[in-house]
Amino acid sequence: MAPSTSGESGDGQWPKGAVGTEAVRYRPVTTTTGTAEVPDRFPAYLVSRDDTAPGGRLASLALDDLPAGEVLVKVEWSSVNYKDALVTRPGNRVARVSPLAPGVDLAGVVVASDDASVAPGTAVLAHGHDIGVARHGGFAAYARVPAGLALPLPARLSARAAMIIGTAGFTAALSADRLEDHGLSPGDGPVLVTGASGGVGSFAVALLAGRGHEVVASTGKTDERAWLEALGASAVIGRDGLDLDPQRVLGPERWAGAVDCVGGVTLARILRTLRYGAAVAASGLTGGTALETTVFPFITRDVALLGVDTVSTGSERRRAVWERLARDAERIDLESMVAAEVSLDQLGPAVEDVLAARVRGRVLVRPG
Ligand SMILES: NC(=O)c1ccc[n+]([C@@H]2O[C@H](COP(=O)([O-])OP(=O)(O)OC[C@H]3O[C@@H](n4cnc5c(N)ncnc54)[C@H](OP(=O)(O)O)[C@@H]3O)[C@@H](O)[C@H]2O)c1
Repeated sequence: MAPSTSGESGDGQWPKGAVGTEAVRYRPVTTTTGTAEVPDRFPAYLVSRDDTAPGGRLASLALDDLPAGEVLVKVEWSSVNYKDALVTRPGNRVARVSPLAPGVDLAGVVVASDDASVAPGTAVLAHGHDIGVARHGGFAAYARVPAGLALPLPARLSARAAMIIGTAGFTAALSADRLEDHGLSPGDGPVLVTGASGGVGSFAVALLAGRGHEVVASTGKTDERAWLEALGASAVIGRDGLDLDPQRVLGPERWAGAVDCVGGVTLARILRTLRYGAAVAASGLTGGTALETTVFPFITRDVALLGVDTVSTGSERRRAVWERLARDAERIDLESMVAAEVSLDQLGPAVEDVLAARVRGRVLVRPG
């Protein structure tokens, strides 16, 4: 669906007038930490449970449409994650409020705060929990979040860099940590990364290689071989390169570890080709949600299936992971991971590209 330019208020009423043509009026917002001038209405990209066609629409929100929270953020950057694309599908079970400004990631500057620990002017990032799913997220020029979710940006990261990393890079970092906590060390042998050209996958390639692991990237876009090698992959294989000895219950012992954001048949193939004692960190479902396997990888090769959830990660762990990500990012050419930079009115086609796996790396969103 082509984006419209109608304004929409949170109660579902659609006032006349187009975003961008109305004169911007400001109003004072007073909090315990001071008073700020904030626009009466601001642009947002909204999806609704009443939508019958895929895609959202350009609209406007008022501050009163934003959910409760101590911290008001002027959003400078957001990004398109697979989950953001899923909430634009009619009948999806991901969005839990309607209308919803998606965007599970956001970074920007605090303009007003009712929490003394997050002062106005602080550069922050926020992701996960209900953001972009059960409360308006980063696909709006302003967002209100609970103080506990507003992490100060690590000193080495700009808001743009943080959103290049975003939930995708955070998921890759948690996946790498899960494998290393399970015993994986550099020098143990090849570590497989599936969905390698996507957000989670490309960051997993770069992070693991930066930590000294030998990385084999599996991708449906083998023409991106040079890019994946530049990120640190020592070998690049096609998606069908995982399907060895399919007639046997167990395949050859190939992988010292694996990061999988694809799920489905891909995850089953990984389980039957892990080395003795190895683990796969599973985070995603782009290839399917059903997992058909046997018990043999577990009971004869001692392998482990490690789950990865980023949504509910506590704030202390979030801070620690982001501090390490900021250090890891110094070894990564972040700009090479930007597939596109879009404004809210360009989100429709960007979302379709993500769902069709046509994107290499990350799509940045500039909502302002
Ligand atoms: N558990 C969590 O907390 C968490 C957090 C973040 C993301 N996720 C999940 O992780 C997955 C990846 O997220 P993302 O943001 O990185 O998405 P993305 O940027 O769209 O990347 C997904 C990649 O998966 C591969 N792929 C797509 N369709 C496929 C298919 N039918 N069969 C096999 N491979 C396919 C493609 O890579 P190639 O073309 O290179 O093969 C694609 O680029 C999603 O399922 C997302 O929901 C989970």
